[in-house]
Amino acid sequence: MQNKEIRFRSRPTGLPTLENFQIVDADVPKPNDGEVLVRTLFISVDPYLRGRMREGRSYVPPFEIGEVISSGVVGEVVESRSPKFRPGDIVTGMFGWRRYNVGKAEGLMKVAKAGSANTGTAGVSPASVSITTALGVLGMPGLTAYFGLLDIGQPKEGETVVVSGAAGAVGMTVCQIAKIKGCRVVGIAGSDDKNKYLHEELGVDAVINYKTVQKPDRQGGPSSAGGMLQALIEACPRRVDVYFDNVGGEVSDAVLPLLNQGARVVICGQISLYNLDKPDVGPRPQPYLLVNSALMKGFIITNYAPRFPEGVMQLAQWLAAGKLKYAETIVTGFENTPQAFIGLFSGDNLGKQIVKVADA
Ligand SMILES: NC(=O)c1ccc[n+]([C@@H]2O[C@H](COP(=O)([O-])OP(=O)(O)OC[C@H]3O[C@@H](n4cnc5c(N)ncnc54)[C@H](OP(=O)(O)O)[C@@H]3O)[C@@H](O)[C@H]2O)c1
Repeated sequence: MQNKEIRFRSRPTGLPTLENFQIVDADVPKPNDGEVLVRTLFISVDPYLRGRMREGRSYVPPFEIGEVISSGVVGEVVESRSPKFRPGDIVTGMFGWRRYNVGKAEGLMKVAKAGSANTGTAGVSPASVSITTALGVLGMPGLTAYFGLLDIGQPKEGETVVVSGAAGAVGMTVCQIAKIKGCRVVGIAGSDDKNKYLHEELGVDAVINYKTVQKPDRQGGPSSAGGMLQALIEACPRRVDVYFDNVGGEVSDAVLPLLNQGARVVICGQISLYNLDKPDVGPRPQPYLLVNSALMKGFIITNYAPRFPEGVMQLAQWLAAGKLKYAETIVTGFENTPQAFIGLFSGDNLGKQIVKVADA
């Protein structure tokens, strides 16, 4: 057993580069009582990790220089000093970007029992789904979609729901839950292939490619939201009741003028701003909220931790019933983890971006 780990070498300026990471050999740690040694199978790379790469206050402490990057992992227990797990169990939890990690048993969740193919995440997912769903549709992104849309967005039948970042892990789950709730769904994503998937595979009613609609405006003048606004007017004949925002910036600027009375704006993510070094300047949202008696609310998924079992159960039932689908983009090779993370900012992924480190 040879361990390797990926350390945070330097704080990025703008888009992160491979120079910001360092891959080094390390010892395989020994578990103490109540701990397990876990062999990494899959690593989740997530946009919020960019926030941890800058100094200063956020909802999660920043990475220190030299620290091992950490995120969600699915792995196999190879040694257990806890009665909760035995070797061969597949578990998920927060771990360092390492081939082998030691973790406290109480912080881990069983995805599959030793010797079985897949008994399902938390024992509730359909046996046919991959263990990687613990990092996607049945994990943090799926729960983010579920609670953000249903608790804050509160979509009602017949309403129009607009989703930015619609072809990502959170976004495509939001689109489908909104369809389950009987809404007209408009998805905004960055490629025609992604939009084709949203429309043809997931039943999203209308789709907008924000990269192509904005081009004429960028060349033609300062109003870069113009092309988006026109596309949204066409896609939303009854305007917008719920806006689930994963990206922020110019895409979101264009949605604000179309809000309906009593609209709800769910601030889930602002990925278009994560690599900026200075605060972005855009239209002020207050007048749109005021005249429409609209709500804009941000949230962090961990706020909902006590209700996670409810969310996983419902998502798993929808999966089993064929009402919910998921897509994953899987990059192979531990060393490719930083590049997979960087690729999130150019939209390399359809659905959940995962790195495969080893076979189960
Ligand atoms: N509030 C919470 O607790 C919480 C939890 C999880 C995630 N989030 C947030 O939710 C959002 C989605 O997360 P995810 O994990 O599902 O990631 P994801 O959507 O699977 O991946 C990121 C996607 O963002 C799009 N993107 C990248 N740069 C962009 C830009 N400049 N403008 C517009 N779109 C851009 C890309 O798709 P295109 O090809 O469409 O550009 C890319 O595929 C992120 O903002 C994330 O920070 C929040």
